[in-house]
Amino acid sequence: MSRDALAGLRVLVSAGPTFEDIDPVRFIGNRSSGKTGFAIAAAAARRGAETVLVAGPVALETPAGVDRRDVRSAAQMHAAVLAALPADIYIGAAAVADFTPATVAEGKIKKRPGSEGLVLELVRTADILADVASHALRPRLVVGFAAETGDLDANAREKLQRKRIDMIAANRVGIAGSGFEADDNTLHVFSADDRQVLGPAPKTELADALLDLVAAQLR
Ligand code: PMT
Repeated sequence: MSRDALAGLRVLVSAGPTFEDIDPVRFIGNRSSGKTGFAIAAAAARRGAETVLVAGPVALETPAGVDRRDVRSAAQMHAAVLAALPADIYIGAAAVADFTPATVAEGKIKKRPGSEGLVLELVRTADILADVASHALRPRLVVGFAAETGDLDANAREKLQRKRIDMIAANRVGIAGSGFEADDNTLHVFSADDRQVLGPAPKTELADALLDLVAAQLR
């Protein structure tokens, strides 16, 4: 049997949501279950890669042979991913918050008598994927995901270029049986000169199919 192209390489994967705290009891989160990133990390480890998984808050078991680093917020994920460099390959499957509260209230925010609303000030988070792609220790291959509800092709290609990454796996979110939480998905994978559709298939199978494309791009 021939040796897998990923064997012996260091693969860094991010997975799951981030939770951005508003006060000690509330946060802003999203629907990511972590299934996609965990499946990719499991497949990479099975293929002989030294695999580091930076995981947001999810209820999933650590795949065999994977070095897991748990985080909660986008800022913590940013720090953990950059601290795990150098790597040969980075795959950003996490659904990272784009915005976080400007301040975290020390005590639980109370309803004010006579006030029917609450205005939260949000600030942008750092873009982990773009920062990995422009890092002095840039991996040989940087792979992003794109969660889309609109023009999937145009938005994915725009992210591929703007974030200066090598490959992007776009998926539809906001529909049943695809994207967040579901066991199955369809991935539209773009690189500078290629476009492939993977699935619909279980996320466990898509993980291996995506790693096949990654391995082919490395050659
Ligand atoms: O976890 P599951 O339930 O299996 O769901 C899988 C998934 C839907 C979360 C996954 O398939 C997916 O689409 N992940 C990316 C979600 C996302 O944040 O997409 P985006 O289009 O907003 O971001 C584009 C890319 O930039 C992503 O690789 C993201 O990780 C990255 N990003 C975004 C913001 C930020 N501050 N830092 C980042 O690195």
